[in-house]
Amino acid sequence: MYSPDLLKDKHILVTGGGSGLGLLMAQAFASHGAQVSICGRNAERLELAKASILKVSGKQANVYVADVKQPEQVEAMIQYFASVSGPLNGLVNNAAGNFLSASEDLSPNAFKAVVDTVLNGSFYSSLYFGKALIEQGLPGTIINVVTTYTDTGCAFVLPSACAKAGVEAMTKSLAFEWANYHIRVNALAPGPFPTEGAWTRLVPDPRFEKVFLSKNPSKRYGKPEEIQHAALYLMSEASSYVNGAVLTIDGGEKLSGGQFNFIDQLYPRETLKSFFQALKPKK
Ligand code: HXC
Repeated sequence: MYSPDLLKDKHILVTGGGSGLGLLMAQAFASHGAQVSICGRNAERLELAKASILKVSGKQANVYVADVKQPEQVEAMIQYFASVSGPLNGLVNNAAGNFLSASEDLSPNAFKAVVDTVLNGSFYSSLYFGKALIEQGLPGTIINVVTTYTDTGCAFVLPSACAKAGVEAMTKSLAFEWANYHIRVNALAPGPFPTEGAWTRLVPDPRFEKVFLSKNPSKRYGKPEEIQHAALYLMSEASSYVNGAVLTIDGGEKLSGGQFNFIDQLYPRETLKSFFQALKPKK
């Protein structure tokens, strides 16, 4: 689809790059000539991801254990990656957290855990990434991974809906403000891509899956290469005049309304709540 040296001068950080969509994007960037750096909270998972990136691209990724909720860890990570492979000029704010819950059953800490990861984490990474570029007078590109429910809101994933809406506002704010510094900021809004992390948290029952498929006018899930092509486009010069955009990649699913609104029609509320409770980690 794209030239193998599409991203040859790029050094790209993918947060949460150890698994799921983050890893798919990291693999695609490395396969198209970029130096890739990934972070996550789990060292073992990062090492596995590094090996898989090497396998598909022949390139050695940098890894760093960091929790994007912690600004000092994010700052140290960005300095580390620059010290080993030169200045970062691409960033994908992919690290996220999400789970199904009735909103009245959320604890303040549950809301905070998601918002801290998704919204605050994306800001911290953008801040230290952007500051370094601005200080050095270098151009760069940011992709923020959002969701298809940022403008509709969404039942049963309220913290994620609030946080991702914030990230979309941040995308548009920074796109305008940092265009002056030649830093482009766009968002990618994936619909249903069946990664292990998202599916175990968000699709606890086969009936959810059936409706997911039937409400999507394309009647199928996204394929790995489809998210990769979209990320390559936004990260590369192929999209050099695209700034402040949200690229939705969902087969048209968004047009049917909030992604999880349907589940209220599948079961009585109490049955749904018992599904959600079963997914909640035990203390
Ligand atoms: C209710 C929950 C819960 C659940 C955690 N909590 N899981 N509440 N239902 N399933 C509560 C805990 O009880 C605790 O509150 C608080 O949240 C913090 O939990 P911790 O486990 O201590 O926090 P932390 O380790 O920071 O975990 C953050 C997390 C976790 C978001 C809760 O799920 C996570 O790290 N996820 C990362 C990966 C992920 O979620 N990927 C999916 C993204 S997919 P109390 O009050 O008890 O202290 C996506 C796309 C959507 O976003 C579209 C797909 C189709």
